Amino acid sequence: MKRPIAELWGTGSYTPGRVMTNDEFAKILDTSDQWIRERTGIRERRVSTKEETNACMGKAAALKVLEQDGLTPLDIDAIVYATASPDRLLPSAACDLQAMLGAKNAAALDVGAACSGFLYALNVAEGLVASDQAERVLVVAAEKLTSIMDWTDRSTAVLFGDGSGATLLRRSTNGRGILSSYMKSDGTLAELLYRPGGGASHPPSPELLTDHSYYIHMAGREVFKAAVLSMADACDQALKRAGLRGADIDLLIPHQANIRIIESTAKHAGLPMDKVYVNVDRFGNTSAASVAIALDEAVRTGRLKPGMTVMLCAFGAGFTWASMVVRW
Ligand code: ACO
Repeated sequence: MKRPIAELWGTGSYTPGRVMTNDEFAKILDTSDQWIRERTGIRERRVSTKEETNACMGKAAALKVLEQDGLTPLDIDAIVYATASPDRLLPSAACDLQAMLGAKNAAALDVGAACSGFLYALNVAEGLVASDQAERVLVVAAEKLTSIMDWTDRSTAVLFGDGSGATLLRRSTNGRGILSSYMKSDGTLAELLYRPGGGASHPPSPELLTDHSYYIHMAGREVFKAAVLSMADACDQALKRAGLRGADIDLLIPHQANIRIIESTAKHAGLPMDKVYVNVDRFGNTSAASVAIALDEAVRTGRLKPGMTVMLCAFGAGFTWASMVVRW
């Protein structure tokens, strides 16, 4: 087993106070609480206000990490920010956050890997620590998906929510930290889950305001099948690289997209559901922020304790998928 190079030190998260239930969706779309719960496991999600921008939510999670560690923003050497819903296309969300925090000693960059974004960002941060480019890397994952989802499309609108999570990566101490990690992508399947309009190939135009191409489009059934296979592959690879078996894992924290995908992933890894962290019922799919929010909740509620071995895994647009085994 590899000796960990970097450890996750402190966690934080932020979710908006506004709770939107399935019944509220049933008032504006042809859907029902029963359909949403049975097909996805989602009961409610959080919806941000105008003031709760992506970077504001990222900042709230980041400050919780810094407070826990007794650090100030000036102690941060780099910010790696995962998001699919930045406040603006230029500059990066990471630079916005750097300015908001006053983290003037930090290099700042975004990672675009959709729902796998937090795990991809942790990998980039681990590389910065390993190559001695940075001692302390703030990793933030935040999403304001309610601003890029089509509120008139029942097949996607009911799935998503807003929120953020963060952690700090630094050199490992006492054998704690990342034991293995794995990242994979398949760009040939991009158009099963994407936003067709608004970028440089389909720049803003009068049509863009009405043709819905600015919003997330998803072929749900195909994405579902790919997610099940990719999450299984992600777990297999992270376990293999760590030299561990499913039975060695104390807690699995999977991307929270759909309870049926989570259950299938747990079954594949040979883990009972009481070893799986689930909050998709309360937050829906918060894309990059999903694993980060769940990780912070698991720490704060005592589900994840020092010395435990935790496996993180995620799948998202791209397609991208990733996993990580961490000694906590
Ligand atoms: N309420 C009621 N009926 C609905 C709703 C809704 N909200 N949404 C779809 N339906 C209908 C469909 O129109 C369809 O009706 P039809 O049979 O008359 O055509 C029927 O329900 C079945 O639709 P499916 O899409 O086949 O339903 P499925 O069981 O596959 O569930 C879901 C849909 C929940 C979207 C599922 O496919 C899924 O979870 N996919 C994966 C999503 C995911 O994991 N994304 C991860 C990445 S997200 C990211 O990266 C940003």
